[in-house]
Amino acid sequence: MLFIRVFLAVTILSFTGLIAADKPNRVIVNADLGTEKISKNIYGHFAEHLGRCIYGGFWVGENSSIPNTHGIRNDVIAAIREIAPPVIRWPGGCFADTYHWKDGIGPRDQRPSIINSTWGGVTEDNSFGTHEFLLLCELLDSEPYICINVGSGTVQEASDWVEYVNSDAKSPMTDLRKKNGREKPWNVKYWAVGNESWGCGGNMIPEYYADQFKQFSTYLRYGNLYRVASGGTDPDFDWTETVLKKTQKFKNLIDGYSFHYYTFCHGWDDKTSATDFNENDWFHTMKNTIIMEERLKRHIALMDEYDPANKIGLIADEWGNWFKVEPGTNPGFLYQQNTVRDAVTAALYLNIFNNHARRVKMANIAQTINVLQAMLLTKDDKLVKTPTFYVFKMYKVHQDATLLPINLVCEDYSFNGMTLPSVSASASKDNSGKTHLSLCNINPNKDASVEVEIRGINKLSKVKGEIVTASAMNAYNDFNKPENVNCRPFSGYKLKNNTVQISLPSKSVVTLELE
Ligand code: AHR
Repeated sequence: MLFIRVFLAVTILSFTGLIAADKPNRVIVNADLGTEKISKNIYGHFAEHLGRCIYGGFWVGENSSIPNTHGIRNDVIAAIREIAPPVIRWPGGCFADTYHWKDGIGPRDQRPSIINSTWGGVTEDNSFGTHEFLLLCELLDSEPYICINVGSGTVQEASDWVEYVNSDAKSPMTDLRKKNGREKPWNVKYWAVGNESWGCGGNMIPEYYADQFKQFSTYLRYGNLYRVASGGTDPDFDWTETVLKKTQKFKNLIDGYSFHYYTFCHGWDDKTSATDFNENDWFHTMKNTIIMEERLKRHIALMDEYDPANKIGLIADEWGNWFKVEPGTNPGFLYQQNTVRDAVTAALYLNIFNNHARRVKMANIAQTINVLQAMLLTKDDKLVKTPTFYVFKMYKVHQDATLLPINLVCEDYSFNGMTLPSVSASASKDNSGKTHLSLCNINPNKDASVEVEIRGINKLSKVKGEIVTASAMNAYNDFNKPENVNCRPFSGYKLKNNTVQISLPSKSVVTLELE
């Protein structure tokens, strides 16, 4: 009889996922040991003149029938404000090194049209320029981060741009700004000196780029600037070492060092569909996202060597999933759908950035609207929030909170003889003393029973949770089904003393609030 009772109890507990599996999943959160702040800028965005990110995404123009504020879509402003975007990078990407900012100021009907030779060869009429971008940032309450043209621009042009945007003194540039309707300077802090200068930004070698960086940076003068140097390709440690070495005696010129990383399911040359994929594709997407941490660590190790005082921030100013474009769309527009797979990898990336907050001072997901791993998709006057949007919404609690050290052990997610850790996590404490723990289960087939022990809190009395998941691994939101995947209340946990036993559903992202 006793045996039957025990057997039943174990079966029921196992079924509800409330007891540890063979290899326990366990997280210890040290709620009183945090020292490092998670810069809110880790939750930054990237908006390039690419496809329909700017035109049709943010910008419809003042005469559009789509409700707008000085040309910027109202529905987009409202939606993006929900995720509290701290910083937005613009105008590129590769576009930045072809962009001449003076084309994008003054009366719109007098601005020249150019060819966007990088992205689709389409006409760029320059109706969205410096004033429009800085207005957008004001409407979103975000800091602007401007990438200047090193590849095909001049030092003078770059210097003029900063003067136009930031100076209050009388000068030809500030007179021009005032003539164009803006009296006061905007005081933009963040400036990138070129983009991917190893490739579309000029095909430079690191020695040459380092010299270019110093020359350009010397003449970016107005205001309290944060200058970001272009990194190499993600595994190019030689580029990193060369740039850091050559700028070592010029510490006043360099504040940030950029790092780009994209997840390709099977590689750059073997892109797969964003929605039509199998478990092999799922596994490799997770694997190639997790590899990013190793790359990040190696760049950080070099930064620690050349900048032991930790003055230079690692700026991951492009990251995300890069899949095949949606069938029937312009290949140069990089328009892709966004599924639960994107939600899970977004959580993996954000946990990694949070956990490396000591060095990572900004990250910008590529890109905000209609391009790559977007927050929003638009079609005429319609708008859809993606699963990635909901992860950003859930994770905004970590912005400027104190990173908490955690210990995590978890079982493996195995597929075809390959393994990955199934659970990823990060935790922080906010100004009001609330602890937030974010977890994701990358296994698409199996729930994870996770025991979370909170140390350093006298008595844990309240837990609240939210979850992003769906039953299908390729579930997504579309214009006819906009809320298929979203963020919902989560109740799959039990609190006992300072331990929370969680049943973390397969392919899910969860954030718990603990008090
Ligand atoms: O985000 C798309 C492109 O990817 C950017 O323009 C470029 O910097 C990167 O290679």
